[in-house]
Amino acid sequence: MAQPGPTSLALPGQQICLRRPDDWHVHLRDGALMQAVVAATARQFARAIVMPNLTPPITTAAAAAAYRQRILAALGPKLAAGFQPLMTAYLSDSLQPQELIKGQAEAIFYAAKLYPAGATTNSAAGVRDLATIAPLLETMERIGLPLLVHGEVTDPAVDIFDREAVFIERQLLPLLARHPGLKVVLEHITTAEAAACVAEAGPQLAATITPHHLHINRNALFAGGLRPDFYCLPVAKRERHRLALRAAATSGDPSFFLGTDSAPHGRQAKEAACGCAGIYNAPYAIESYAAVFDQEGALDKLEGFASEHGPRFYGLPLNRGVLTLERQDPQSEQAVTVPLRLELGQAGDESLALVPFHAGEALPWRLR
Ligand code: DOR
Ligand code: ZN
Repeated sequence: MAQPGPTSLALPGQQICLRRPDDWHVHLRDGALMQAVVAATARQFARAIVMPNLTPPITTAAAAAAYRQRILAALGPKLAAGFQPLMTAYLSDSLQPQELIKGQAEAIFYAAKLYPAGATTNSAAGVRDLATIAPLLETMERIGLPLLVHGEVTDPAVDIFDREAVFIERQLLPLLARHPGLKVVLEHITTAEAAACVAEAGPQLAATITPHHLHINRNALFAGGLRPDFYCLPVAKRERHRLALRAAATSGDPSFFLGTDSAPHGRQAKEAACGCAGIYNAPYAIESYAAVFDQEGALDKLEGFASEHGPRFYGLPLNRGVLTLERQDPQSEQAVTVPLRLELGQAGDESLALVPFHAGEALPWRLR
């Protein structure tokens, strides 16, 4: 299903070592689903910015600290020792600036997430009007707490494929002008317009790019039938946008960094009459990015994107460990192949199965 770029001619067995990467945007969920998915992220990444769109959303430092504890407990001592969940606050019309100040001072909140109300999964409690949260944004600008943005307008009159570009014009650019000192990450960008906006803006504006938006365009959603496993928000766009994202990710520009937006939903929730948005890419995330950088002839830019640009933007130290990737021949019988589905036990009354991104594919790089 992946739309490959140019291929490289290097040989199987070749290795690359990367400074241990971080995931600057992930959904770890809660309860049984969290128990099932959290290890996949902790195995690859040293830190992760954990999204707060639970039900109810994470709107207090105490709730975030308790959630962090549940994540670490689910990992068990060995994986927990090598993984730091970086918690985020869910911005709502009723959140008070004091809560953000407290959460940051206690090293619980590393950022706050703006969900325009109604834009995506569990965003009903999000922000209706940016003017309402001006005091929160002023506080964040003053204390240096980054604003993470789901950048889509919710106006039903705007075509779903245009919602990101319209958000940039109507909401993001005026917001950046009102808060010139605010650090902003435009999350999971999907358009050439977003990539250009971030490349042209100053160092206060950055963007995360997911593996799936680098691999698929909107045709994937309809290839041979309706394909719920490729449905996420913002929805994948035309091929020219995918190519612009590939160029941005592999450019070496420090404004672009890794954020998987891994967003697991059980099989039943994806294959429903009204299926949930989200692609579960955590188990093979770094392999997925490595395939893209390889196809673009830019493996030398992978470490910056995966392991350096994010910490520099957030003002955090670089990780010390390393991760090794080995080239494999995807045609060979020994090649590691992404499972068609992951059976993850019971969640209440339902059996929990997830379909990972790249299901059934052998990728050109595998984790050692
Ligand atoms: O595809 C998505 N899934 N996009 C989002 O913005 C939210 C996420 C989720 O939480 O499922
Ligand atoms: Zn997300």
